[in-house]
Amino acid sequence: MFSVTCIAPVNIAIVKYWGKRHEELILPINDSISMTLGTNELCAKTTIAASEGFQHNRMWLNDDELPVEEDSRLMRCLKGVQRLALANVSQKVSLSWKVHIASRNNFPTAAGLASSAAGYACLVYSLARLYGVPINEELTTIARQGSGSACRSLYGGFVQWHRGALEDGSDSVAKPVVSAQHWPNMHVLILVVNDERKKTSSTKGMQRSVTTSQLIQHRVDKIVPERTANLRKAIEARDFPSFAEITMKDSNQFHAIALDTYPPCVYMNDVSHAIVDFVHSYNETIGEVQAAYTFDAGPNACIYVLKENVAKLLAAVQKVFPNDATESVEYLRGITVSDTVEKHP
Ligand code: ADP
Ligand code: DP6
Ligand code: CO
Repeated sequence: MFSVTCIAPVNIAIVKYWGKRHEELILPINDSISMTLGTNELCAKTTIAASEGFQHNRMWLNDDELPVEEDSRLMRCLKGVQRLALANVSQKVSLSWKVHIASRNNFPTAAGLASSAAGYACLVYSLARLYGVPINEELTTIARQGSGSACRSLYGGFVQWHRGALEDGSDSVAKPVVSAQHWPNMHVLILVVNDERKKTSSTKGMQRSVTTSQLIQHRVDKIVPERTANLRKAIEARDFPSFAEITMKDSNQFHAIALDTYPPCVYMNDVSHAIVDFVHSYNETIGEVQAAYTFDAGPNACIYVLKENVAKLLAAVQKVFPNDATESVEYLRGITVSDTVEKHP
């Protein structure tokens, strides 16, 4: 038996991915850009064992068993990495052996904190380590087929997922924009408003937006290309006020499209909206933009803030929202691996 254990962090989208042009291949209608958090923070941890003695492929997520063979996304990731492994003649783990996979998130699953991103990035990365497949851009096309946002978590720092133009999706890849070291004092504060599973998954929500929202195509054609170009410039120049304005505007536009969906997808709640108001008045009071909120498909807030401003912001948050769980998340590197593959007697 061989086993491997890996940890992968979530990434928080700044320009959001919302909408697919191909459901099975998970090809997006627009580019997106995110920042990957540190490996000590919001993470998925996955152990995969392969053995000649296993009868079936099996998987447990947070201790509950999932029907792997019936889950097309899990099977695409498994088969995808195994196909890349065919090129690796020296591999020790036989492709005919079944695998047992156990994964656990150290934060709420399916609550809009990007568990699918960390989860599938970790799965694909662990499989690549198990079979000795190189970690490269092609691997992002496999993580993408588990969950779109997962392709961005294979890199640390700021990452862009390029929508691509080819029908087979081979150019729909994630690429680093800059490494984590480029902007080392960038932090994220996570405000957990509600840790329950969302009512409408990201997959279902974006399907409904693509078929019913009349605003979504305008976003794709007229907003995202310019916004991703400007965001890249702001990141490269470490220009926090420009970065912040793009971040908040894109979060607001994404939720406007969610509401323009019919029936609407309501991901933010009253506390989320109070956080939006709070951040704007906080920035106004200090006369400088020091905090930028963004909300994924859920009510929980991620607030981008520079390290030197974290303590002041956190104190203000705790005064206004005394009962909310808050967590200051360090911004570190990308993915880490426990070790190389282990052989068990
Ligand atoms: P989120 O906002 O948390 O990303 P999604 O609706 O996009 O929510 O995805 C949640 C789904 O992602 C889960 O129901 C599960 O299928 C998958 N997922 C979450 N964590 C993991 C993990 N660690 N390993 C594999 N799959 C995971
Ligand atoms: C709002 O990647 O979870 O977080 O590809 O269907 O698995 P699937 O969806 P998912 O969608 C993420 C949507 C988002 C924005 C983003 O992460 O870019
Ligand atoms: Co997700």
